Amino acid sequence: MNAMTSFERGTVTIRDLSKSFSINGRDLNVLKAFDLDIHAGESLAIVGASGSGKTTLLRVLAGLEYADGGEVLIDGRPIQGIGNERAVIFQEPRLLPWRTVLDNVSFPLEMRRLDAATAQKRALHYLTLVGLRDFAEALPAQLSGGMAQRVGIARALAVQPEILLLDEPLGALDAMTKITMQEELTRIWTEEKVTMITVTHDLEEAVYLADRVLILPKEKGGAIRLVPVDLPRPRDRSDPRFVHLREGLLREFGLH
Ligand SMILES: Nc1ncnc2c1ncn2[C@@H]1O[C@H](COP(=O)(O)OP(=O)(O)OP(=O)(O)O)[C@@H](O)[C@H]1O
Ligand SMILES: [Mg+2]
Repeated sequence: MNAMTSFERGTVTIRDLSKSFSINGRDLNVLKAFDLDIHAGESLAIVGASGSGKTTLLRVLAGLEYADGGEVLIDGRPIQGIGNERAVIFQEPRLLPWRTVLDNVSFPLEMRRLDAATAQKRALHYLTLVGLRDFAEALPAQLSGGMAQRVGIARALAVQPEILLLDEPLGALDAMTKITMQEELTRIWTEEKVTMITVTHDLEEAVYLADRVLILPKEKGGAIRLVPVDLPRPRDRSDPRFVHLREGLLREFGLH
């Protein structure tokens, strides 16, 4: 260990980050200079009105989009584009239809030049973790929406990232499946000890998943807010403290 500050794997440091888009010659200031420290192994939810910049922030953290100001550091090192220590899960799993479930999960491992036997073994391990071992040889078209999304989660986990970035991962699922998947995500996050950053427009989901909820401001120029969710897991949605936090977030959005 040297004299530099040491970081636990999966620490995200956001410093003075800003991002604008130019739309029809006008500058749209989406992320207005803010700082945030996301702890190793934390579960952070990002909420905010439509257009508040949730996806933009996630894409900047993923390295799919460049910030115009400030920086993002992972474990103390500034990011430069995408990196193996981060994996992204989108709303749709985007599976390759001609590959089996197992081969979809092993695909990114093959891309990383892991030998076939190791890649298959690891893919099977993560399929088992998401409860789909018996579907390893199925094709994506034979899966339900929730199962397909679990394949996407297994594929992201198989590369063993320090940080999972999820953009409305359960947004396309029905209410029942969504609740099951929120429980699954919590279990996986606990077992894998990854840092999990989840964009969601579902405030109950945010309270269910997160250690802290980051609220992006509605008005440009407003400040971000952080709401700690200090409740034991597994979380009980009918616990008065849970209900209180959920209602508080609803009020933030003028929905209550
Ligand atoms: N590539 C782009 N070019 C120009 N403008 C963009 C681009 N991406 C996003 N924006 C603008 O940035 C703002 C934030 O978009 P973003 O997709 O981050 O919002 P969001 O919070 O994810 O919204 P939603 O809840 O609807 O998904 C929007 O006003 C959008 O028009
Ligand atoms: Mg979005």
